[in-house]
Amino acid sequence: MNEPIIRVRDIAWIRLQSPDLDQAEKFLTDFGMAKAGRTGNALYMRGTDAEHHIHITELGPPKVLSIGFHADSERDLQRLAEQASGASGVETINEPGGGKRVRLSEHNGFGIEVVHGLDRVSALPVQRFKFNTGPDRRRLGEVTRVSVAPSQVKRIGHAVISTPDIKQSVAWARRHLGFTPSEEVHDEADQNELLASFIHADRGKEFVDHHIMMFGRHATAGLNHVSFEVQDIDDLWAGHEWLINQKHRHCWGIGRHLLGSQIFDYWNDPWGRLHEHWTDSDRVNADHPYRLVPRSEGLRSQWGPQAPQEFRDAASK
Ligand SMILES: [Fe+2]
Repeated sequence: MNEPIIRVRDIAWIRLQSPDLDQAEKFLTDFGMAKAGRTGNALYMRGTDAEHHIHITELGPPKVLSIGFHADSERDLQRLAEQASGASGVETINEPGGGKRVRLSEHNGFGIEVVHGLDRVSALPVQRFKFNTGPDRRRLGEVTRVSVAPSQVKRIGHAVISTPDIKQSVAWARRHLGFTPSEEVHDEADQNELLASFIHADRGKEFVDHHIMMFGRHATAGLNHVSFEVQDIDDLWAGHEWLINQKHRHCWGIGRHLLGSQIFDYWNDPWGRLHEHWTDSDRVNADHPYRLVPRSEGLRSQWGPQAPQEFRDAASK
């Protein structure tokens, strides 16, 4: 494998296009984000961590525009601009939060933005409760009272792309973004038929989420889902109840994934783009042994419902 052009630090945002910014803001607020800014033609939403924003909605017909990733330095942006075929130059981002970026296309034509130098903001206060579970007795002389309310989205975690050619997609992501596979899933009968590839940011010995992207095999290319970390399982369940009460459309959950181990819950936005809440991901580093597993040991829930057809077919354009 050739050396990657750069190794990105983390995922930065999803950029969608939607025909009604008020409706987008209502869904994303119910989903548990806070408004970071709004202009005449775009909405910027944040989590409780210190990133300026993690979700962008531009006004227009429903469309998935791009996924953003953080580079370590402006020098890395320059390297991408010089070495990645079809890349833009280093551009100044003329949006709230500022920063610079390079625009690329993933091999299916999917928009990728690599960014650096965005404004940081103060983290928002978070409500979490202590648990008295197993041998841990941490809540002493206090009671727990969880209200049904929007989850408190902490950060963006990963994006999953449906693609007809997983090997090409992974090769593109390795070369341009420096990602490395954590675990991959093959067809039960044929080890060479890849069904899914879970890849993580290569940060050496530093532990990172089990996957920052996942590629799943599908007849057409598109966004399967975008995923956001919430504070804990109480926060996930409270947000689940809130989204039901607000009549948003549920897709799948609550359960625990096998690969990545996250406790998950999937929701449709008003235009059918899947947004995931999760908590408690596996964390891996360069010492993590790569594994190739058959479907029966990969794509299932450890507990909770198995994936419905609607989820398996999701490939938003
Ligand atoms: Fe996910």
